[in-house]
Amino acid sequence: MKTVLRTENLTKSYSIGKLEVPALRGVSLDITEGEFVAIMGPSGCGKSTLLHLLGGLLSPTTGTILIDGEDLSKVSDSKRTDIRRRKIGFVFQRFNLFPTLTAEGNLKLAEKIHSGNGSKDSTNRREVLRLLRLEDKMHHKPLEMSGGEQQRVALARAVINSPAIILADEPTGNLDTENSQIVLDMFKELNEKYNQTIIMITHNPEAAAVCSRIIRMRDGLIAD
Ligand SMILES: Nc1ncnc2c1ncn2[C@@H]1O[C@H](COP(=O)(O)OP(=O)(O)O)[C@@H](O)[C@H]1O
Ligand SMILES: [Mg+2]
Repeated sequence: MKTVLRTENLTKSYSIGKLEVPALRGVSLDITEGEFVAIMGPSGCGKSTLLHLLGGLLSPTTGTILIDGEDLSKVSDSKRTDIRRRKIGFVFQRFNLFPTLTAEGNLKLAEKIHSGNGSKDSTNRREVLRLLRLEDKMHHKPLEMSGGEQQRVALARAVINSPAIILADEPTGNLDTENSQIVLDMFKELNEKYNQTIIMITHNPEAAAVCSRIIRMRDGLIAD
């Protein structure tokens, strides 16, 4: 089994003025290709910090992150950006959609950023839209959609380029039961059908129940 993500003794402290806030205090972790992992733990225990580090959006204070065996700290900034764009889809809790673009425009923009050109065929887009039941929302702008629909578009955007690894920070946190179910069904299908590796922070036991492994965190550490 291939390890797609590995961290070795990862620490992260934030500086606030002269104060050092330790958010992660030594996290070592192996994620195998095709795993669907839930990260759970109380608020403030370092879940989002860990996910941002895994996605190369933050740099660790000490320790190592390897993606497909590549040490993120040893590559150039541009290479790191490249790895992130090619391999990782990030789902934030806030949607961050472009308000002036339609759902379709937001997705096309994501495809363009990731592929470097606008000519990608749309087979995958159609599949993602089907999974997220967004086919008839394509010409709506974010403000013309419900919160659940916006979150589904944000999700579609994160997975549109079939990233090997999907990192999701409480993707169902603001969603009602019906929207949560659509999102979890999509993750499950992407995971089972396309073997995409998914790491999802969640507070919801029902969401965690669909995962193949639960990592519990506490005070900046993995609690076991
Ligand atoms: N940008 C930041 N600046 C300073 N402290 C932060 C920042 N982000 C998070 N923290 C602190 O780091 C700790 C872990 O936060 P976080 O990773 O967001 O936890 P979780 O996602 O589990 O709620 C908390 O004490 C939080 O206040
Ligand atoms: Mg968080």
